[in-house]
Amino acid sequence: MKTFCLLLLAALAVGDLAYSESDPQTTPVLPWWKTTIIYQIYPRSFKDSDGDGIGDLQGIISELQHFQYLGVETLWLSPFYKSPQKDFGYDISDQRDVDPMFGSIEDFRKLVAEAKKLGLRTIVDFVPNHTSTDHDWFQKSVRREGKYTDYYVWSDGKTLPNGTVVAPNNWLSVFYGSAWEWNDQRQQYYLHQFIKEQADLNYRNPDVREEILLAMRYWLDFGIDGLRMDAIGQLYEVTDLSLDEPLSGAPGVPLNEYDSLLHPYTNFLPEVKDEIIRWQTMLDGMEKVDGRQRFMVLEYYTDSDSRAKMAEYGAHPFNFDLVDNLDIPTNASQIMALISEEYMDKPASYWPTFVIGNHDRNRVASKYNPRNANAFNMLLLTLKGTPTTYYGEEIAMEDIDVAYNESQDPWGINAGPDRYRLVSRDFNRSPMQWTSVSEAGFTTGKPWLPVNPDYLTVNVASEKLNPKSPLNLYKEYAALRQLNAFKYGDIDVNVITNDNVLSFLREFGSERYLVCINLGQSPSTDDYSQGAVNSPTGVVIATTGNVPSAQDKFSTVSLDSLTLQPGQGLVLKL
Ligand SMILES: *[C@@H]1O[C@H](CO)[C@@H](O)[C@H](O)[C@H]1NC(C)=O
Ligand SMILES: *[C@@H]1O[C@H](CO)[C@@H](O)[C@H](O)[C@H]1NC(C)=O
Ligand SMILES: *[C@@H]1O[C@H](CO)[C@@H](O)[C@H](O)[C@H]1NC(C)=O
Ligand SMILES: *[C@@H]1O[C@H](CO)[C@@H](O)[C@H](O)[C@H]1NC(C)=O
Repeated sequence: MKTFCLLLLAALAVGDLAYSESDPQTTPVLPWWKTTIIYQIYPRSFKDSDGDGIGDLQGIISELQHFQYLGVETLWLSPFYKSPQKDFGYDISDQRDVDPMFGSIEDFRKLVAEAKKLGLRTIVDFVPNHTSTDHDWFQKSVRREGKYTDYYVWSDGKTLPNGTVVAPNNWLSVFYGSAWEWNDQRQQYYLHQFIKEQADLNYRNPDVREEILLAMRYWLDFGIDGLRMDAIGQLYEVTDLSLDEPLSGAPGVPLNEYDSLLHPYTNFLPEVKDEIIRWQTMLDGMEKVDGRQRFMVLEYYTDSDSRAKMAEYGAHPFNFDLVDNLDIPTNASQIMALISEEYMDKPASYWPTFVIGNHDRNRVASKYNPRNANAFNMLLLTLKGTPTTYYGEEIAMEDIDVAYNESQDPWGINAGPDRYRLVSRDFNRSPMQWTSVSEAGFTTGKPWLPVNPDYLTVNVASEKLNPKSPLNLYKEYAALRQLNAFKYGDIDVNVITNDNVLSFLREFGSERYLVCINLGQSPSTDDYSQGAVNSPTGVVIATTGNVPSAQDKFSTVSLDSLTLQPGQGLVLKL
């Protein structure tokens, strides 16, 4: 097995070297975040070191060699901060401390240092727009103590003709029901665009903006490489709190559900841009001092055009087009249309990011067909742009099933038994599957969510032994990114695309590769040899494992009549 991998890497390295020597074109210098793979760790579910059934920082430290094995260089940690865990860490009660369930500040320091020793970078999640109602700031705001009085969005509400006081407007929480909660002590409503224990900060208050910058700076001073900013769309809302949001008219959506309204007064107001620029300016200032680039990536669900506008002022929003559109009715040409948009008519500062799964959405192996798991990893890792892998995708983990009465996620619980399946995030947060021993080697205790019963075969240790497992294929695709064509090269999406197949070229100088993938339901035979490809044959350098021997690695195949089975992908050197 080891020999096999070394041979592969040697083959890639030799190809690369031969090319660089013969080609006069020099390789560009790119910022590190354009050539990296980002891997999202959801700390609760990654690895438990102390047997309480919940993952922790020491657990992550104990598995750092996993990333070296994969060839992944950047870790993004979802929140591990002090929190009552009402929204599993996205409800922070102290931005500057580690929750004891995850470890300590010293554990975090050690994680960053150990990762650095292995050549890994660390990005942390930052939740700028709300805090837990357990936060010291909120408690002081409730008591109207000095500057904290206006740290949150407070309102007297609206008095009806019969004297009853109600919420000031119809705004809804993303997690169901009114976005306003009455606070008895202060005798006012506060805004919460998520659960009622997540109070929205008042960004119109300069003290709040300064506090957030200081908290960001606090983590940056540990030597991390960047930040992932959570839910930035909801940072600001209009000042006139009497404005109701209009009905969306979305069919079949109950009136207490977020999607029943449009959000012109609460989502992505122009002021958000100023905030992003303030944050970016701080990062740029740090770079001027020590020469180290830090990457800030934003969570914002939007379209390609809005992302392009944000690029003009230096922002990098995640691209969730694939996260939100990969289900079985989506055919290959529709997927390719979403991808192609990333390369069309964009400002020079635009850099595509691709995400296939995250902690808020069902896993791709479950919502699309499981046979496509390797094909999606091949796609993600060969496109031009920065890919983000959600933990477990590298071993093709699938969603678990959770009954309503066993639900943990507040979003699912608030939705009720009839609609929780539409929104609950428990399904895609099950423990990482490390081995075939009990609880998949995740914990020695009882895991906070059940382990997927498929762990006996779907796990890191077993997959390491099989050269064609999702794990080892992922590692091969990651290694492709060391080739100039994938690292620096352009992409040409004008190849063959139809209901079943999508394909594209990656090229740098005279080095050219064709990637073709069948995501459809039936075999597809196509002529790739014409047009942009302009080559009668190609040599297979990576596969999705499920291929006939004539198309296995190192085979030369004819491109004028190439048949791909459902779920099959090939990377070919031209
Ligand atoms: C006042 O009016 C509202 C809305 O019509 C109604 O829901 C509420 O019960 C009324 N309150 C009283 C005290 O009559
Ligand atoms: C803050 O982030 C949460 C989710 O983490 C989101 O629900 C909320 O809308 C964001 N904005 C505010 C102002 O709370
Ligand atoms: C696939 O998508 C394309 C583009 O949207 C559409 O024209 C075509 O009808 C779709 N094919 C099927 C079988 O749904
Ligand atoms: C949930 O319901 C199932 C079947 O009705 C039952 O076996 C299980 O004990 C329940 N779990 C909880 C936590 O109540």
